[in-house]
Amino acid sequence: MDRPSVDKPSMDKPGVDEPVLVTGGTGTLGRAVVARLLADGVPVRVMSRRARRAGDDAAYEWAVADLAKGTGLDAALAGVRTVVHCATNARNDVVATRRLVEAARRAGSPHLVYISIVGIDVVPLPYYRSKREAERTIQASGLPWTVLRTTQFHDLVATMTTVQRRLPVVLTLSGTRAQPVEVTEVADRLVELVRGAPAGRVPDMAGPEVRDARDLAAATLRAMGLRRRVVPLRLPGRIARALRAGGNLAPDRAVGKVPFEQYLAARTRPAAGWR
Ligand SMILES: NC(=O)c1ccc[n+]([C@@H]2O[C@H](COP(=O)([O-])OP(=O)(O)OC[C@H]3O[C@@H](n4cnc5c(N)ncnc54)[C@H](OP(=O)(O)O)[C@@H]3O)[C@@H](O)[C@H]2O)c1
Repeated sequence: MDRPSVDKPSMDKPGVDEPVLVTGGTGTLGRAVVARLLADGVPVRVMSRRARRAGDDAAYEWAVADLAKGTGLDAALAGVRTVVHCATNARNDVVATRRLVEAARRAGSPHLVYISIVGIDVVPLPYYRSKREAERTIQASGLPWTVLRTTQFHDLVATMTTVQRRLPVVLTLSGTRAQPVEVTEVADRLVELVRGAPAGRVPDMAGPEVRDARDLAAATLRAMGLRRRVVPLRLPGRIARALRAGGNLAPDRAVGKVPFEQYLAARTRPAAGWR
């Protein structure tokens, strides 16, 4: 049974109802989407599995819900005009998206804006298959929908190196490249899509530069002030082959403006607390 569990802020403006629900509003992309919507004066409801942090007095509503378990969804969806679906969990994205779609239908069919990944048709990673299945679920949902695919965010590309920082060498996949994009630019684009009419699959969005994986790892190490050898590994198999063929790239859609080094410089400022 769905219990109402939406926590509304006291500063709700009169006449401003119909918030935009951001699933995964606590995640890397979701936080940026929430910030952009609030900056634009759009009422926001954040969905999370966790209770709102004590002392969090930001001007959004908060809905405790679990897409995998199906709890809290009716209350989270009640009265929303648009849903930006940023929640993800590698183990259950397909079932989570189905549950979201069903709850959205019950709630009067808001516009569903979904973030997906460039190359999910061609790189046979299990996570990418589940993203494709989630896209299909949305396309067949009968809801008004928009899907944006982007390349990897700078954060993820940097994390591939930072997680290895205690190892004597940093491993990369030889012959592969990435085209990282700044997450705040992705958030800006999603908010533009929220403001527009449902558009179906929109043109992909990729970062400004296609870079060798080895070069991106070296740049991350430099930014962290670490000296490690970068060792490219040549792996067999269909996934590595698809990545070497550039299935994760969209060079003709290099619309992002922020290069990787600019992201690294911002992250490694002392105040950013990365190191
Ligand atoms: N990272 C990239 O490079 C990249 C590139 C292209 C597209 N994308 C897509 O962008 C989206 C966001 O990625 P991200 O890196 O920002 O993710 P993230 O930081 O890992 O955040 C995941 C979010 O999902 C929420 N979540 C997980 N399981 C949930 C559940 N069962 N019910 C409700 N909420 C749940 C979490 O909220 P709580 O923990 O608060 O519940 C969290 O806010 C994903 O769909 C991803 O595929 C990512």
